[in-house]
Amino acid sequence: MRWLVPAVLVFLVLVVALLFVRTERLTALAAERPTTASESVKNEEHVEVAEYMNHIHRYAHKLWFAAEAGNLPLAAFYLEELEETMEALEEERVIDEGKDLSALLRQYGLPAVHALEEQMKERQLADFKAGYEALLVGCNACHAASDHAFIQVQVPTLNRYTDQVFQP
Ligand code: HEC
Repeated sequence: MRWLVPAVLVFLVLVVALLFVRTERLTALAAERPTTASESVKNEEHVEVAEYMNHIHRYAHKLWFAAEAGNLPLAAFYLEELEETMEALEEERVIDEGKDLSALLRQYGLPAVHALEEQMKERQLADFKAGYEALLVGCNACHAASDHAFIQVQVPTLNRYTDQVFQP
């Protein structure tokens, strides 16, 4: 029976080691899962806001040149794409350096998009420039409100998409 004590000891060490590994894994899993308080709030690190902005920027650019060319369906298409991208970012619930981007999008971004949408429904491309400029005021106001005042957009002067037909 001299073997019993070392055998029990080895067994106990194994049990403790197993328990330790399991606890470690559970702790790691718990760390991955967001806590209830911040369940729906993501950190800027997880959502590439600049990627969304890149799309928004491109749609805004194409929207301008579609309207310039008098192409209402194409202009309406880009405004719709822009709106969907803003809405998708709004749903991401990003807090970027303490700034609630969803709230800011609802305040500065989406109202300007909706106003331009209404305008285009009622008056097609008449006074488009004024509506578009109002949209850009919203973009820049939001950049300022989210500590990115150095990012300023303006009415484009040159169509950078030479490989797409904008004429109706
Ligand atoms: C939440 C309010 C908000 C609104 C509305 C908004 N932006 Fe932004 N934008 C941001 C933030 C925040 C960043 C910085 C992203 C980062 O930190 O990576 C940014 C970055 C950018 C950039 C720099 C990134 C790049 O792709 O070069 C451009 C360009 C841009 N926005 C264009 C626009 C345009 C055009 C509009 C309007 C049609 C607009 N934004 C509306 C918040 C906003």
